[in-house]
Amino acid sequence: MIRDIKEVLLTEEQILEKVRELGSAISKDYESKDLLIVGILKGSVIFGSELIKNITIPCEIDFMAVSSYGNSTETSGVVRILKDLEHSIEGKDIIIVEDIIDSGVTLDYLLKYLTARKANSVEIVTLLTKPSRRKVDINVKYCGFEVPDEFLVGYGLDYAEKYRNLPYIGILKEEVYK
Ligand code: IMP
Ligand code: MG
Repeated sequence: MIRDIKEVLLTEEQILEKVRELGSAISKDYESKDLLIVGILKGSVIFGSELIKNITIPCEIDFMAVSSYGNSTETSGVVRILKDLEHSIEGKDIIIVEDIIDSGVTLDYLLKYLTARKANSVEIVTLLTKPSRRKVDINVKYCGFEVPDEFLVGYGLDYAEKYRNLPYIGILKEEVYK
């Protein structure tokens, strides 16, 4: 697996330090709110579970699964809901947890979808963002790291469902997917 990685972009230590900062910012900002953390499967699972350990106020968690990629490295632009939330979100203060924002298409869709279901507020926390690739302008309240336009894997991020279990974020060698 490590042979397919061109370079380690973010070490586990760097990620954990950032996740602690994000967790304490959220704990402070949402102290008197009805917080529901919505993890987007599967990419946000590792980041999301580390994040909620660093949230010190009461919160609920739920998950959604969407698809916009298939097995390619380019977004298809079409978002499909594969798994929806289990409970009503009316009046809840939601934070969507994402692994990475690329075009912004997925989150733009989810923000509208959750807002239409009468959430009190909907914000985003993402571990990574690729600002140079943005096609839709979205407001991201909490962001870990800005990253270059490279295909990244590890810490939950996959290529064709592999590499999610790497404990760091690495740049995938181009020959693996070209
Ligand atoms: P967007 O809708 O284009 O913003 O796509 C966001 C989704 O694309 C993320 O949740 C990831 O699943 C996937 N994605 C975007 N860039 C990468 C990458 O560099 N590595 C792995 N997955 C990525
Ligand atoms: Mg993915």
